[in-house]
Amino acid sequence: MTERLGRYIEENRDAIESALESYLPLSQQANAASLNEALRYSIFPGGKRWRPILTLLSASLVGADTARALPAACAMEYLHTSSMIFDDLPAMDDAGVRRGRPSLHVAFNESLALLTALALFNQSYSLLVRTAAESGESASAVRLVKEAAQCIGADGMIGGQVVDLVLQGTGQNETSLASRNLKTTALLRLTLLAGAGACGASEEEIAALGEFGEALGMAYQICDDLLDELVDDDELGKPAHQDSRHSRSNHVAEFGVEGAHRMAGELVESSLLKLAGAFPDRPAVDLIADAARLILSGMGKLVIA
Ligand code: IPE
Ligand code: IPE
Ligand code: MG
Ligand code: MG
Ligand code: MG
Repeated sequence: MTERLGRYIEENRDAIESALESYLPLSQQANAASLNEALRYSIFPGGKRWRPILTLLSASLVGADTARALPAACAMEYLHTSSMIFDDLPAMDDAGVRRGRPSLHVAFNESLALLTALALFNQSYSLLVRTAAESGESASAVRLVKEAAQCIGADGMIGGQVVDLVLQGTGQNETSLASRNLKTTALLRLTLLAGAGACGASEEEIAALGEFGEALGMAYQICDDLLDELVDDDELGKPAHQDSRHSRSNHVAEFGVEGAHRMAGELVESSLLKLAGAFPDRPAVDLIADAARLILSGMGKLVIA
């Protein structure tokens, strides 16, 4: 990790962790203590925390400080975590380990895992609106919710997860891989535009960040496929070889280890060039570049926890 990115993460770590704690959608109901326990279990100690970091960096690209963008950053971590809880369920990838310990449905039970994921999902919408509304940006709030619904929806993360399941046991081509990738590219698109979008960015800035987020998401998924193939369970903190267990083609199966790696590298470098062109002379671009290259080098043995 570069020194400047390390410093940025160090400076923001406590603020992110305490915001994640304070925005947890805990229940006040006397008999819902198990929901609160499951919410805490799902978020702490957490994973690499790339999404809140990238959302904060996106906000700083348009001049907003950490405090202003924290609700949006937490929204993205909650949304991502909810997608992981759903993804691990027996009806989906049937994975018993996540972030180095039993997946939520194993540690608790399936019904509570479903409800916890929904609680996080629900809260993420509320938090996205909150950042924009607190910035006095009601038009931005409306635009962001619309964008979030698209990124999460049938032609976004949800659609990508469906394609991932439907294509099990079949070969894939470039079109179907792109459509499967929506499970990750669409949420990274939202992650990258959420910070700036909630803090009053222009249409052009949001478009540039969304495009960069999609490219980074594609590289992210290629790296996840490489890790699935090459790294063992302990190091991954989740079961390895899940794609072959589900007879699922992925970038490694289609392009080989070297081909997939090269593809991710080219994607990251070309999209960083475009981003630098859209945001000239902004130091946050350099931090985003450092983060993207670290993600590429094995997603980083990051970061916050
Ligand atoms: C894993 O995401 C799943 C994908 C979207 C490819 P991360 O590797 O970012 O998961 P955590 O948050 O660090 O556990
Ligand atoms: C999951 O992709 C992507 C989303 C849930 C949005 P994977 O199924 O490849 O993620 P891992 O490998 O279980 O983390
Ligand atoms: Mg999956
Ligand atoms: Mg999975
Ligand atoms: Mg995977």
